[in-house]
Amino acid sequence: MVSGVAYHPRMAEAMIQLRNVHREYHRPDGSVAVAALRGIDLDIERGRYLGIMGQSGSGKSTLMNLLGCLDRPTRGRYLLEGEDVSEHDDEKLSGIRGRRIGFIFQSFHLIPELTVLDNVEVPLFYQGVHRLKRHARARAVLDRVGLSDRLDHRPNQLSGGQQQRVAIARALVGDPSLLLADEPTGNLDTATGESILDLLDALHGEGRTIVMVTHDENMAERCERIVTLRDGLIESDVMKQANRVP
Ligand SMILES: Nc1ncnc2c1ncn2[C@@H]1O[C@H](COP(=O)(O)OP(=O)(O)OP(=O)(O)O)[C@@H](O)[C@H]1O
Ligand SMILES: [Mg+2]
Repeated sequence: MVSGVAYHPRMAEAMIQLRNVHREYHRPDGSVAVAALRGIDLDIERGRYLGIMGQSGSGKSTLMNLLGCLDRPTRGRYLLEGEDVSEHDDEKLSGIRGRRIGFIFQSFHLIPELTVLDNVEVPLFYQGVHRLKRHARARAVLDRVGLSDRLDHRPNQLSGGQQQRVAIARALVGDPSLLLADEPTGNLDTATGESILDLLDALHGEGRTIVMVTHDENMAERCERIVTLRDGLIESDVMKQANRVP
C-alpha cells in the first residue's frame, strides 16, 4: 500500500496559462482593423472540461485558434504544459499541434477523396509514423467512436454525426493532451448533437482535457467550468459547484 498525500490538482501547474493575451487583426497597411482579444488571463487545469461562451464576434474562435497553436498572440504569453509557445515559428507550432492537440470543428474538415481510415491516419502520416502503426492506431480510435464498420467509406457516404465521429477519431489519433472543439454540434440536429456530446463526456471521463465553444446553454451545462467572453475580454468565469475545491 502506497502512503502519502493524496494527489490534488491544485498542486499541479495549470496545463494552459494565458497571460495578458492580445490578438489584433491588421489591415494590409499594418493598422489595427479588429482587436479580437484584448488582454486574456486564463489558466486551464489538466483534465478540465471547459466551455467557452459569448456573443458572435466576442473572440471565441480567435481564442481557440491560439489555444490550438493555429495562430500566435500579437501580445502576451501562452504557456502550454509549461512551454512558452507564444513566439514559436510555424514549424514548431505545427509540431506541437501534431503531438499535443486535437481539433474538432463545426464543419468536419474531412478530405472527401480519402476513406474514413485514411482520413484518421492523416495526422500520423505527417508525423512520420510507420504505416502499420498508423493503421492500428486509426482502427483503435475509430473503434472507440463506434465506426469500426465504416473504415472504407468516404465522408459523403456518412451521416453528419458519423462524419463528426470521424473528425473526433482524427483528433484523438495522436493521443493529444488537449482536445479543442469549436461548436462541434453546430451542423448537427439535436439528437445527433447530443450523441456527440455524450462521446465528449466519455472522453472527458477518461481523463482528457477538453475546451469547447458553444452558443448553447444546454450544451454548456455539460462543462465543469464556463468562461464567457465579451468584446475580446473575459466577462465571467464560473466553476460549477460540484467541481469547486472544498
Ligand atoms: N482573419 C480575420 N481578419 C480580421 N478580423 C477577424 C478575423 N477573424 C476574426 N476577425 C474578427 O475578430 C472578431 C472575433 O472573431 P471570432 O471569430 O473570434 O468570433 P467568435 O466569438 O468566434 O464569433 P462566432 O460566434 O460568430 O463564431 C470579430 O470581430 C471578427 O470579425
Ligand atoms: Mg467562432
